[in-house]
Amino acid sequence: MLPSDFFQFGVNTEEKVTLPSLFFLYHIFLVLFPMNTSKALKFLIIWFQLVLVIPHRIFDFISPIYDLIIKGSTPSELITFLNLQGNEKVLEIGTGTGRTVQKISSLCKQLYLLDPSQLMLNKARKKIPCANFSLGYAENLPYPNDFFQRVFAIDSFHHWNNHRSAAAEVYRVLSFDGTFILFEFDPKSRFGHFIRSMEIFFRMGSKFFTPEELRVLLKKESFMVTHQQYIDHMTYATIAQKSK
Ligand SMILES: C[S@@+](CC[C@H](N)C(=O)[O-])C[C@H]1O[C@@H](n2cnc3c(N)ncnc32)[C@H](O)[C@@H]1O
Repeated sequence: MLPSDFFQFGVNTEEKVTLPSLFFLYHIFLVLFPMNTSKALKFLIIWFQLVLVIPHRIFDFISPIYDLIIKGSTPSELITFLNLQGNEKVLEIGTGTGRTVQKISSLCKQLYLLDPSQLMLNKARKKIPCANFSLGYAENLPYPNDFFQRVFAIDSFHHWNNHRSAAAEVYRVLSFDGTFILFEFDPKSRFGHFIRSMEIFFRMGSKFFTPEELRVLLKKESFMVTHQQYIDHMTYATIAQKSK
């Protein structure tokens, strides 16, 4: 085991929680807050859940109530931007409970849905059982090169861990002329700012991009950004093309 393994608590894609790291933390805790062992242990367990496990597993925790608090199904703009002719392979990254794929469920076997939360994916599977499901991260897509004609992500990009490597992965799996569609909150809008503050408060590790920042990032990964527009007072869509 490398010394760095001691410090991996599951805040990144690797999700390593090692016993030595917990033991190490426990001793630091006892040094900082001397108290009897059973009290200290209880504190440590609660702290471990609140600070290390829940923020990273937040979507597993909220999966039972996600569809009750987040309303709406496939945005009509998504249908327009997808511009499907019927034979495309389509990937949604961060599909969650499958809230936004219901109106394209006729794609079925050509529809690929990926998410790192097993409990969110279970909900999606019930809605559209014939799609192809993968448990995974945007940063390491389990698909071959040039596989998809369309890739999209709704309200998910700001949760990704490494936006540049994820964008590079999307570029890799898209076919030439394929389209990447992103729906994101603008952190400069009033409600976008509120959501950003809430996600910081809950230590969700989110990073929000303004339309300009997103354009710059996608260009760095060789995308050609062809269109950006606001969908409502806080959400904007970005359409990017794989150009070579
Ligand atoms: C707010 S939900 C959005 C779900 C769905 N797209 C919707 O609009 O209802 C964000 C989703 O992104 C997923 N997610 C978080 N980090 C991710 C990553 N690195 N790669 C792919 N998906 C991720 C979460 O598990 C979660 O299901």
